[in-house]
Amino acid sequence: MKFLIYRYDPESGKKPFMQAFELKHVEPGMMLRDALLKLKAEDETLAFRHSCGEGVCGSDAININGKNGLGCLIPVSTLKEPVEVRPVPGMPIIRDLVVDMSQFYHHYRGVKPWLIVHDPEPEVEYLQSPEERDKLDGLYECILCGCCSTSCPSFWWNPDKFRGPAALLQSYRFLADSRDQATKERLEDLDGPYRMFRCHTIMNCVNVCPKSLNPTAAINNIKKLMVKDMV
Ligand code: FES
Repeated sequence: MKFLIYRYDPESGKKPFMQAFELKHVEPGMMLRDALLKLKAEDETLAFRHSCGEGVCGSDAININGKNGLGCLIPVSTLKEPVEVRPVPGMPIIRDLVVDMSQFYHHYRGVKPWLIVHDPEPEVEYLQSPEERDKLDGLYECILCGCCSTSCPSFWWNPDKFRGPAALLQSYRFLADSRDQATKERLEDLDGPYRMFRCHTIMNCVNVCPKSLNPTAAINNIKKLMVKDMV
C-alpha cells in the first residue's frame, strides 16, 4: 500500500515535502495508526503523536486524504491510494505530523470548562435529575482531538480570536448543565463579533468529528440562550 506523508523539520532549514512510503504487508483490519507505526519502524525520523489507540486520548488527529480524523479509528482498507497524510491544517507545525496545540488549548481554557457554582457548597454532592443529566449527552464526550476546530475556515482565519467549534461545544456543555450558575457570565464572554459569531455554519466540524458530535448545534443553542437572555 502506497503512502505520501508530509515531512517537515523547521530546524533543518529545508522546505516541507511529501515523502513516499510503501507498506508491503497490510494486515486485515489494520488501522492507519498501526500503518504509521510500521512505516516509522522503517524510518524512525517520522514524527507523529498517538497514545491510546482506541479513540480516547485524541492525540493522533491528522489530515488523511484531505479530511481530518483520528489515525487509530480509520481502517486503511477504506482509504484511496496513495494515502496522503498531513498534519491537521491551520496550526503551527512542530515536526512532520506534530502540530502546536497551544492556541487550541488557550481557547478551551477561555470558556472556563468547569462547573461554576455561586451557592455555598453542598455537604455531599451537587444533585442532578436523570433528565437534567441527559441534556449533557452529545456534549461531554468530546476528547479534544481538535479535528473540528482545525477543519474550520473561521478558525484558520481568526485563530487568535474565534474560540472554534471544540471550545464552543465545551462552553455549551457547561451552559446546559443544571448545576452551573454562570450562564450570564458565560454568555457575556461569548458576545461580540469574534469569539462565537465568527461561526458561519460551514459545518466542517460536524463532518469530521470522530465522536459524531455536533458543535454547530451547540453553537446554535448558545445563540438561542443569548436571545432568551436579551428578552
Ligand atoms: Fe488515542 Fe487515537 S491514539 S485517540
